Amino acid sequence: MLDDADLPADGFPVDSHMVANIPENSPASVTTARIADERVVVLDFGSQYAQLIARRIREENVYCEILRHDVSAETIAGRKPKAIILSGGPSSVYAEGSPKCDPKLFELGIPILGICYGMQLVSESLGGQVEHCPAREYGRSRLKIDNMESLFAGFPHEIDVWMSHGDQVSNLSDSFETLAGTSTCPFAAVRHKTLPIFGLQFHPEVTHTSLGGTLIHNFLYNIAGCEGLWHLGDFAAESIQLIRQKVGSDRVICGLSGGVDSSVTAALLYKAIGSQLSCILIDNGLLRKDEQTAVITEFTKHFKADLRVVNAEAKFLDALKGITEPQEKRRRIGHAFIECFREEAEKIQGAKFLAQGTLYPDVIESGAAPDGPAATIKLHHNVGGLPDELGFELIEPLRDLFKDEVRRLGSELGLPEQLVWRHPFPGPGLAVRCLGEVTREKLVVLREADEIVVSEIKNASLYRQTSQAFAVLLPVQSVGVMGDARTYENAVAVRCVNTDDFMTADWSHLPYEVLARISTRIINEVRGVNRVCYDISSKPPATIEWE
Ligand code: XMP
Repeated sequence: MLDDADLPADGFPVDSHMVANIPENSPASVTTARIADERVVVLDFGSQYAQLIARRIREENVYCEILRHDVSAETIAGRKPKAIILSGGPSSVYAEGSPKCDPKLFELGIPILGICYGMQLVSESLGGQVEHCPAREYGRSRLKIDNMESLFAGFPHEIDVWMSHGDQVSNLSDSFETLAGTSTCPFAAVRHKTLPIFGLQFHPEVTHTSLGGTLIHNFLYNIAGCEGLWHLGDFAAESIQLIRQKVGSDRVICGLSGGVDSSVTAALLYKAIGSQLSCILIDNGLLRKDEQTAVITEFTKHFKADLRVVNAEAKFLDALKGITEPQEKRRRIGHAFIECFREEAEKIQGAKFLAQGTLYPDVIESGAAPDGPAATIKLHHNVGGLPDELGFELIEPLRDLFKDEVRRLGSELGLPEQLVWRHPFPGPGLAVRCLGEVTREKLVVLREADEIVVSEIKNASLYRQTSQAFAVLLPVQSVGVMGDARTYENAVAVRCVNTDDFMTADWSHLPYEVLARISTRIINEVRGVNRVCYDISSKPPATIEWE
């Protein structure tokens, strides 16, 4: 079990690499009294949905944090949660070495909701039996509800639920009662007869479960007695206050990319400390078409703070010369970024702090311990690296927030819609969309194609309905015919996805006419491209970016 010594001030369990990078007294990691008054802890057993559970709780205006499954009951109790949720996970509770929680958790008297694996763990720990089910259940199921009180208050007798499990409770302990079941899963919703412990075999956090949000609401408000004290308006005011206290009369440097995260970070800092803020925009030569100009225009419109632009295309392209391996590209871009940043930052007199737009998912994804439940899929270089290297104290005001919360915060702070709703753009920029070796010539082609994709999506009024849309330059050439001549040129893939959380995503079902216009325009207008493909892969198993 982990104990307090393993937890940083904000309670997120991290490996030693992260502990080294996150100062304990970072303002963003000091949660406010209002938030701390009412928090819910989600214990992560390796579920791809743990973050989704946390988001759903936040949507109910309750602050929520995700902790590793093996944090001790004593530590959890010390954080005074109103409720504890045990997430799903890929293991079998009866398998050797499967992740377990501290059994003392069940004696705390704090309401517990086990979901999928979490439910199986609760049931098994308290005298039930879990077995592999004869037919693995994956997809929609019809749930018949027998007990319409508390958890299912206000529900109809039947609803659709989303199932995704290979095991299920086969024998319920006498201390539990059944609330609902499906034709293949008799114990789909259960509760302990005397303790405030509940279990759901299905996933209320997934939108395919009808009234899943109401179920979570009922658990939080009817069972755990939450009042809904988590509001972004309060968050902004409190965050500004904390930044002021922390910074005093010192100067803060903020890296600006033009994306929503760094813009909202800059906006919060600007509101807090005004002219004590200096922003640095590093043009790594991997930005989209006309992006540098657009960022400068937006910035000067909204902030009167100091902005320094570093034109570093040559340095980055040099670092990428001959490199084709995606993670190596990221590493080199990360190093070049640190070097550029350091050089520029050294010119800023009296700077003591560095502000970054790190979000909660960045913290979770990069912070997984090597033997922890969550796997690192790609290197996200937002977290770690910079602060230690540069010797600044770190300010990460968005560390506790999810992307949709950052967008709402941006609107509350008065940032314009086109900035707040900008599709995310990865730190390594076009380098991870220019497959194989990155060259200046390829980037020119990619930029033109990308601009067409985005502008046609906007023209079709689909920009807000899609989560990310972009072009990828493939390292293949194919034969075509243009006029009467044979061509042998590049192919471009168009990637457009819909997602709530960027952890899972579906390809966007764009109208054929929009796809046709994108294809015709790219082939006609972009020199060097004679073929356009549409990427119809979901995440998982694909990722959103190609590298
Ligand atoms: P994937 O490709 O992992 O992307 O499905 C999920 C989201 O993360 C963005 N992304 C990155 N962002 N540095 C970043 O700052 C990175 O190295 C990186 N890789 C992917 C991606 O654009 C999508 O929004």
